[in-house]
Amino acid sequence: MCGIVAYLGKKGAQPILVEGLKRLEYRGYDSAGVALLGGGAIRIKKTGGRISALEEILDEPDSRETLGLGHTRWATHGRPNTINAHPHLDYTGKIAVVHNGIIENYGTLKTWLQNEGADFASETDTEVVANLIGYFYAGADEAQQKQSDDQNKFEWAVQRALQDVHGTFGLAIVCSDFPDMLIGAKKGSPLILGVGNNEYILASDAAAIVEHTAQAVYLADNEMVTVSSAGFHTKTIDNVAVSKDLKQIEFSLEQIELGGFQHHMLKEIFEQPKALSTCMGGRIDRANNRIRLGGIASHLRELTHTKRFILTACGTAFHAALVGEFLFEQLARVPTETEYASEFRYRNPIIEDGTIVISISQSGETADTLAAVEQAKERGATVLGIVNVVGSSIARATDAGIYLHVGPEIGVASTKAFTAQVAVLTMLAIELARRRHISTDEAARDIDELSKIPDKIGRILEQSDRIKQIASANIDKNNWLFLGRGFNYPVALEGALKLKEISYIHAEGLPAAEMKHGPIALIVDGMPAVFIATLGPQYDKIMGNIAEVRARGGKTIIVATEGDENIRQYADHLITVPDVPELLQPMLTVVPLQLLAYHAAVLRGHDVDKPRNLAKSVTVE
Ligand code: M6R
Repeated sequence: MCGIVAYLGKKGAQPILVEGLKRLEYRGYDSAGVALLGGGAIRIKKTGGRISALEEILDEPDSRETLGLGHTRWATHGRPNTINAHPHLDYTGKIAVVHNGIIENYGTLKTWLQNEGADFASETDTEVVANLIGYFYAGADEAQQKQSDDQNKFEWAVQRALQDVHGTFGLAIVCSDFPDMLIGAKKGSPLILGVGNNEYILASDAAAIVEHTAQAVYLADNEMVTVSSAGFHTKTIDNVAVSKDLKQIEFSLEQIELGGFQHHMLKEIFEQPKALSTCMGGRIDRANNRIRLGGIASHLRELTHTKRFILTACGTAFHAALVGEFLFEQLARVPTETEYASEFRYRNPIIEDGTIVISISQSGETADTLAAVEQAKERGATVLGIVNVVGSSIARATDAGIYLHVGPEIGVASTKAFTAQVAVLTMLAIELARRRHISTDEAARDIDELSKIPDKIGRILEQSDRIKQIASANIDKNNWLFLGRGFNYPVALEGALKLKEISYIHAEGLPAAEMKHGPIALIVDGMPAVFIATLGPQYDKIMGNIAEVRARGGKTIIVATEGDENIRQYADHLITVPDVPELLQPMLTVVPLQLLAYHAAVLRGHDVDKPRNLAKSVTVE
């Protein structure tokens, strides 16, 4: 949420910042700006709107401006407009700040600063940080001498200000008196320093860095970095030196580019066969009919004997967790509950001995999920993570975990992360079932079927054009239902979420049997109802639900099993998926729903990768 990028080096900063902002735009895109330093003054350009709007107001790049900050915003405090856009300059005009996160005590600080004579121009919480640093910087000489004389005024003022700030921040800060110095600080929002050849890029994620260098320092919470042309040093915010290793950024530029696709979302939908092969490849041991999950190897014994799982996540990852609940209960026979992370953390959860909490998150930065991890740890649970972004906050906060290894997901609508989250949960459930109660032959059968899933997804993708026709035939409809049962009930929820978030069409996802308890009242002539009606134990029941919709004039879009000829007569539109055991169906049945939402959004003329009001990783609560 919000992308920040800063540059210090030998080149002109402006083009590098703009390019970095474009790569971070999926984090937030309601306003944008840059601050540039070439000599003694800070030059700020900012505007409401996208990076393209910022480009229109930028002056010709000045190669002497070799230090700068950039920001792309997802508004929290204050409407998305030019005044509220970052960077924010302090009241003395010397300090500029870009920020990702929320300053919770900004109201108190603002009042106090105003009483001290500081002016405010914006409605943002961030301007408080700029003014607080400016305030301490202005009075630094005297105050600083009393505290410490081994650092410069600028670094001291940043540290001093951050001690008064409550909330979360990823910050990049410059001071006009130090045209060769960039400071970054982190608490609760990601911040990475890319270390290149005589240049540094400080950014909220590696996407803005990877074009320049693959070497990076990942800051931890309550750490800051001071960068100058002479090098960089890292400290805690309360001035204790910390030594950090340079890490290799694990993805390439190619992975974050469109590669011929019109949108990242479509690229990521089509990447799923390959992504799942990579996710499962080294983990499926066909010779011994076992699943090997290195990241949790030291917890396998505890996992095998656990009495209860709690799965916690948000959004699409929550839907994957719901599939996990079916898998852990039906296959591994372990009682499991799935909780919205945002609810879990505030409802005083009971965590008994023998409970393992598993947190699922693509970004590894979702504030609610991270808070749930911390809550579960405080209550003594072993907490495992299923995360995509390597080195992310949730990956670091959990006791152990399993990475998805599907490469960066840029589209705001999560697709390949969902199927990989379900694949990881399936692998874990099979391995636990094998250790607890099923025979090696049964495990071998499940593993064999699982390993064929990537190819089977490929067969569904071939129907993309037909799915586009289905979207087109229903594009004027403003209310949709998504209905599934059993393992496909979470898929119905996910189908509805996908449609809502990118096409802005109202959709409800439901367990199909629940329809008759209220939502059936919504059905009117021609209303689309998407059924996941694949062969399985509840097939006959869902056929009944299909009949109920048709009897009331609803239009049925049915996701059915290949070769099920019987169902054709009940479908206004039919999409087929290959036949697999029920427990593996979600990884297939979700794919047509991703495509349906994608095509509907494009047909409605929306910016699929940057849906309105959303951002890729939700780092505020
Ligand atoms: O990064 P996370 O998996 O923790 O994100 C959780 C949700 O914010 C995310 O899945 C969101 O619902 C997506 N936009 C759905 O497509």
